[in-house]
Amino acid sequence: MKTENSFFDICYLRTLIFHGMAGGLLIRNIGTLVQTDSEHFLSRRGEEMSEIGTLDDAYLYARDGIISGFGPMRDLDERTISAECSDLEVIDAGGSFVFPSFCDSHTHIVYAGSREKEFRDKIRGLSYEEIARRGGGILNSAKLLHDTSEDELFRQSAERIREIIGLGTGAVEIKSGYGLNTDDELKMLRVIRRIKNEFPLEVKATFLGAHAVPEEFRNDREQYIDVIINEMIPVVAAEDLADYIDVFCDRGFFTPGETERIVMAGLKYGLRAKIHANELDYSGGIQVAVKYGALSADHLECTGEDEIKALLGSETMPTLLPGSAFFLGLREPPARRMIEAGLPIALASDYNPGSSPSGNMKLVMSLACIKLRMLPEEVLNAVTINSACAMGLSETHGSVAVGKTANLFITKAMPSFEFMPYAFGSDLIDTVILRGNIIKTV
Ligand code: NIG
Ligand code: FE
Repeated sequence: MKTENSFFDICYLRTLIFHGMAGGLLIRNIGTLVQTDSEHFLSRRGEEMSEIGTLDDAYLYARDGIISGFGPMRDLDERTISAECSDLEVIDAGGSFVFPSFCDSHTHIVYAGSREKEFRDKIRGLSYEEIARRGGGILNSAKLLHDTSEDELFRQSAERIREIIGLGTGAVEIKSGYGLNTDDELKMLRVIRRIKNEFPLEVKATFLGAHAVPEEFRNDREQYIDVIINEMIPVVAAEDLADYIDVFCDRGFFTPGETERIVMAGLKYGLRAKIHANELDYSGGIQVAVKYGALSADHLECTGEDEIKALLGSETMPTLLPGSAFFLGLREPPARRMIEAGLPIALASDYNPGSSPSGNMKLVMSLACIKLRMLPEEVLNAVTINSACAMGLSETHGSVAVGKTANLFITKAMPSFEFMPYAFGSDLIDTVILRGNIIKTV
């Protein structure tokens, strides 16, 4: 089933979905099994973020895509497992590490074309907002998307999905927001649904009609908000195309008042919020997110004591996106202060053509260590269980626990767990396993 020349192809992935591929997988000789979890915790906050469960010299057994057991090699009863499961595949990890797949709770991976011309403008000194004001940025991607057919959009996006699967991502949230009119938003959301149906990674869809005000509504933004509330949200909900709703609540985009109205409209249709907040300014976005019980508030470069106070005791997962802060040269969010205050932190890639053209979660781990001064254990919790929590998936993803989806990767030989974020440019992923099936073996 695997392709000869290193990578898998889409036909293989389709086969997986359509035939279900029930069966068993036994991984023997795991040097260290990372992020083991016997308590089924749903997130980790504050000091807990530096705790990681590990098990040396271990095995793991998955059945029908679900983790059925793991333990020390000396307790492995291979005969009983083989008797239980007639089509058991056995692999040897050769003493390497096994991690739960990365969870990437914030991406814009469905987009058309790319924006490297703006990259030049950025290098020459234009800011993200200046580029946006000149019709670049999100509006530029909206134009490209409008001129791209649904099939072609799927083809381009599928390539990126294959890329992130190879990079160890096993669950991803994908936003619309480059449509900015009803038809094109639906086009994006249908492509997301197709990804959900055709790939073995877990997908959550977020409706982000309020990503930017399109050109034709520049002088009547109120009318665009009306279209979002009265036209887009009802049809997105009727077609069951989204799990969540998002608003880019920031200086130059949508105000807290506008965000509240859009979030309330989404809630009426059962769409919980995930908010782009406080990237460019102390915008009030965090407070709005908390007020409406948002699942997450994302970016958060402009976070002070008031924002931390609002997040404490809330149900909203603070989500940092160090790839976009790095790419745009933004100030860093106060991750250390947030953890000291007792908050949880999730990390995500923000994979998008304008502010983070990368979905590499291993690089996100490194950036969080280097730029945000988060410890390797904190970062691992942030890219697994907390990021799963930020997309409502922590009961099934984000740790190695019996009963959870068997989304894992086996590393190449590495000396220690912290080698992963330390070796920031190296590809350390050897074998990807999604729903208990081996997807890629290098
Ligand atoms: O998360 N901040 C808003 N949206 C994206 C950028 C989208 C774009 O520039 O295309 C982000 O960074
Ligand atoms: Fe984003």
